[in-house]
Amino acid sequence: MFRHPYADPVTSPKRKTILITGASAGLGAEMARQFAALGHDLALCARRTDQLDTIRAGILAAHPDRRVEVRALDVADDDQVFEVFRAFQQDFGTVDRVIVNAGIGKGAPLGTGGYDANRETAMTNFVAALAQCEAAMEIFRAQDSGHLVVISSMAAMRGMPKAMTTYGATKAGVAHLAEGLRNELHGKPIKVSVIYPGYIASEMNSGVDPAKVRGMVSTEKGVRAMVDAIEKEKGSACVPPLPWAPMSVVMRYAPLPVFKRLS
Ligand SMILES: NC(=O)c1ccc[n+]([C@@H]2O[C@H](COP(=O)([O-])OP(=O)(O)OC[C@H]3O[C@@H](n4cnc5c(N)ncnc54)[C@H](OP(=O)(O)O)[C@@H]3O)[C@@H](O)[C@H]2O)c1
Repeated sequence: MFRHPYADPVTSPKRKTILITGASAGLGAEMARQFAALGHDLALCARRTDQLDTIRAGILAAHPDRRVEVRALDVADDDQVFEVFRAFQQDFGTVDRVIVNAGIGKGAPLGTGGYDANRETAMTNFVAALAQCEAAMEIFRAQDSGHLVVISSMAAMRGMPKAMTTYGATKAGVAHLAEGLRNELHGKPIKVSVIYPGYIASEMNSGVDPAKVRGMVSTEKGVRAMVDAIEKEKGSACVPPLPWAPMSVVMRYAPLPVFKRLS
């Protein structure tokens, strides 16, 4: 019998409850919808709770059996990160997977008066991601199980020029945090994944003309590749795999004059 790829599964998924930060828009909101369709319960957080409420209502209308809880969270507030993660764990009893997704893309070439934007990106994408990884790992170590997922970027593959320099550095930083944890936890029940998305349509790049960006895909298609890699608990994944998996090799190893023409 034909089953739609997002049809409700017959059995419960392995990681039942998923906590997603930055779930009010873009990739986080679409991950919530696609994971709900696969049978997961959801703990969703972001600053814009009106948008979280709308996403929750949409998911429950499509999947009345799912459980979806929402909480306000500004990830730049360290204490709030720990409080909100612990509160979600109390709500559900366990948190099986945490997706460290909240992020911003502000930036300016270094030394051009854009320190405020670069600092905000560094604090949100790296320091706040560290707080989220700490809070998640506290829960997972107590449970002796869990799946930590960090959303990095293809911009982490190589030092990026101009307005992307700080953003790329934060994404390389979070990838290394996750890879360090994966090294520590190899062979143990706690799993760690790093996801490297290419260009996926979202609020973050709403000003970008898709026709002018090579490899840009729709939110739905890009997130489907993310969800597939996360469900398979891959240690690391470039998504969508084409063109980004082969492109990651080019980005890392191409001589600088060649890479400069690509970036
Ligand atoms: N789209 C792409 O092409 C692409 C490519 C590579 C990597 N990524 C990464 O994917 C992740 C999601 O990006 P996106 O494209 O979906 O961006 P987006 O559409 O701009 O959504 C960003 C999300 O992060 C949340 N957020 C931002 N600052 C926050 C804060 N201080 N506290 C709590 N939540 C915060 C926003 O929620 P509120 O504003 O409601 O708080 C929003 O839900 C980011 O880490 C981004 O770097 C995206």
